[in-house]
Amino acid sequence: MFQVPRGTRDFIPDEMQKRRFLETNMARTFTSFGYGEIQTPTFENLELFTAKSGESIINELYSFTDKGGRALALRPELTAPVIRCYVERMQMEPKPLKLFYFGNCYRYDRPQKGRYREFQQAGCEIIGTDTSETIAELLALAYTLLRNTGLKNIQLNIGNLTIISALFKKLHLLKEDQKILLPLIDKSQFDDLKIALRDCNVSEDNIESFLDVLQTSEIKKIRSFLADDPDAQTELTAMETILDLLKNAFQIKEYLIKLSIVRGLDYYKGLVFEIDAPVLGAEKQLCGGGSYDLIPLFGGTDVPTSGFAVGFDRTLLALEEEGFHFPPTRLDAFIIPINQTMNTTAIQITQELRTHGIATDFDQLRRGIGKSLKYADAKHAEKVILVGPKELENNTVTLRDMKTGTQEIVPLTDIHVKLKKI
Ligand code: HAM
Repeated sequence: MFQVPRGTRDFIPDEMQKRRFLETNMARTFTSFGYGEIQTPTFENLELFTAKSGESIINELYSFTDKGGRALALRPELTAPVIRCYVERMQMEPKPLKLFYFGNCYRYDRPQKGRYREFQQAGCEIIGTDTSETIAELLALAYTLLRNTGLKNIQLNIGNLTIISALFKKLHLLKEDQKILLPLIDKSQFDDLKIALRDCNVSEDNIESFLDVLQTSEIKKIRSFLADDPDAQTELTAMETILDLLKNAFQIKEYLIKLSIVRGLDYYKGLVFEIDAPVLGAEKQLCGGGSYDLIPLFGGTDVPTSGFAVGFDRTLLALEEEGFHFPPTRLDAFIIPINQTMNTTAIQITQELRTHGIATDFDQLRRGIGKSLKYADAKHAEKVILVGPKELENNTVTLRDMKTGTQEIVPLTDIHVKLKKI
């Protein structure tokens, strides 16, 4: 038998219902923040992804050569594609440009719960501004987006790559050293980080202070360690303004400063952030984002850019883990002809109700009433309409409420009015 490829999944109707429900919910939040939707192709020229990250990224991609000999890749994320589209078609649009998207992404990851080779992201990019209000709003949007889905337990962690660079500078760490240290910081592997810092000839005192600053959530402490770096002080002041707006204007008070948030992708700079759902355990990162630079690399006129992406599949998993009740797939009405001579009328009623936007189906297996009622129940039908010859003589049908089991005789002309009230 054939099976789905490793790391991919089918979504059957009950699962699609949940996905569409979540997508609608998220689209509503994005649009409420003034964002417009964008869609880009599933595959891009391979170079779009190697331009910043180098050839080594190819190991993590689904890349291929097409029949015309072009090197292509299934997108691993949507930031580079959206910025490519911006440079190609939208540079003249009024700023700021606020774009959101849903899209499947492909990464040659090792599959496990919450980690797939094909997965969906919901994300956004804001182009043309990096004021404190912009970054504060971006953080607020990411947090609100996930909160609005119904998730109860999420953690927003905020880091800053400019400050990380200042820390590296203070410890006189070379670029090559940083490449080894950053992944250890990213994974919060502080014991290994200590050993690596010793290998880089950093003094024990500085190692202790560095680890302390990486794990503190107090800007004051970070400030005092970087007291002799005026650029770092300016960046910290900017960060304080952003956090002040987040807290007092956007009314989001639940966040932590966490300098160990350094993000895996190569294009970030300045403020970066992640949102976790602790309920998910190992693959708990729901969202990641921050400010980044890609426009000049793609040949556009430089303007500031920031954004984030949410792992759609992980958000669903987190909601399920928290016991969220998704509305089931349902029918407004199910029509049962009492016998086959009633078939035409049953179908006519079905069609009529459908024109009123009422989700309606009818028995197509010519089953008895008992079995049809069972099927209607399994399909979560709110009402059942029994079409029988006696009632039809008076232009009426029997309307059964599936929740209460009560039945009433209803004139044919009134059915759609009755059902609209569901
Ligand atoms: P990212 O952190 O690589 O950022 O991905 C964003 C989210 O996608 C992750 O937090 C995670 O929830 C989800 N995700 C990543 N890989 C997988 C996977 N293999 N299976 C399931 N879910 C996964 C980005 O992609 C950036 N483009 C975000 C961004 C937008 N930065 C600025 N603008």
